[in-house]
Amino acid sequence: MRCGRAVSHRMHMNTNKAPKKFCVIGCGRVGIHLAVHLAGQGYRPAAFSSRTCTSAQNAAFHAGRGKVFENAADAAGSCELIFITTPDICIAPVCDLIAADGGFNENSVVFHLSGALSSDILASARKAGAETGSLHPLQAFAPYEPGQASPFTGINMSVEGTSGAASLGKKIAAALQARAFTIPTDAKILYHAAAVVASNYLVTLEHIALTLLAQTGLEQARAYEILAPLIQGTLGNIASKGSVDALTGPVVRGDVAVIARHLADIDKKMPQFSGVYRLLGQHTLDIARMRKDFPTEADQEISDLLKNNS
Ligand SMILES: NC(=O)c1ccc[n+]([C@@H]2O[C@H](COP(=O)([O-])OP(=O)(O)OC[C@H]3O[C@@H](n4cnc5c(N)ncnc54)[C@H](OP(=O)(O)O)[C@@H]3O)[C@@H](O)[C@H]2O)c1
Repeated sequence: MRCGRAVSHRMHMNTNKAPKKFCVIGCGRVGIHLAVHLAGQGYRPAAFSSRTCTSAQNAAFHAGRGKVFENAADAAGSCELIFITTPDICIAPVCDLIAADGGFNENSVVFHLSGALSSDILASARKAGAETGSLHPLQAFAPYEPGQASPFTGINMSVEGTSGAASLGKKIAAALQARAFTIPTDAKILYHAAAVVASNYLVTLEHIALTLLAQTGLEQARAYEILAPLIQGTLGNIASKGSVDALTGPVVRGDVAVIARHLADIDKKMPQFSGVYRLLGQHTLDIARMRKDFPTEADQEISDLLKNNS
């Protein structure tokens, strides 16, 4: 497949019908998954462009159809539905370049798929008359491999943007068998911070737990086997009871003596975790205070223990 020539004409969108013919700019993990799994759901992959021609060709190959363009504005100009799936840092500059080259018009609907950025960064497309939105899949994408299950199935996707883009974003999510939910444009970064805490910091937390357990002499792999049912059970409790009622352990029981002994041993043997144990303990105490069964007489003593690092 060769890189195609610039197209000189624009398609004109029937405003009563959502555009189905789409283009992907930035053909990495998300771009390829999106093209492959939207194709065949009533959407038609028509144009691909990437930093390298090889990636665009690879995406077109896996999607089963679509022309490859060297110039992103030519690719965008040939479709009304445009996905910019470059790394976050490139989204605004790529959008600005396409706009400067006349790749958007009043029939264009432009999305990016970043979690941390809002549709505001597509301002240059908006200025050209396009509808603009962000459509963020709450999923960790592995490199595309043919035959694997769709990573969009059953996940949640946040949508925000202009009204036309937001409503099309929901349809696209539904076509991908994902659940869309709307988020205010100015709340996008806090939403992303929540996702980072829920996923990335959970990994950090479990890593600390495994390191503490390994300090007892257990092998790291065995340490995970031992903790795994506890971790799964806790997640199950959060799902069934909510985060406040799922809390168990010494803080919510008001067991001052155990917390004091934890701290004494961690301070002595693994002082690098003294700070995180105390900080998370303070937030755990905040949760415990929301519980009717928390023995409030232990509150002050636990609070003092968790504050002091002596
Ligand atoms: N990965 C995830 O798990 C995940 C999850 C949710 C959302 N997202 C979002 O999805 C978007 C894409 O992420 P990704 O993981 O798919 O990234 P990726 O695998 O690194 O792919 C990005 C692609 O963009 C291309 N590119 C880079 N600079 C470009 C430019 N100036 N012009 C045109 N193409 C360019 C690269 O091209 P070449 O290959 O041609 O060099 C690469 O293939 C990001 O906004 C990210 O935040 C990612």
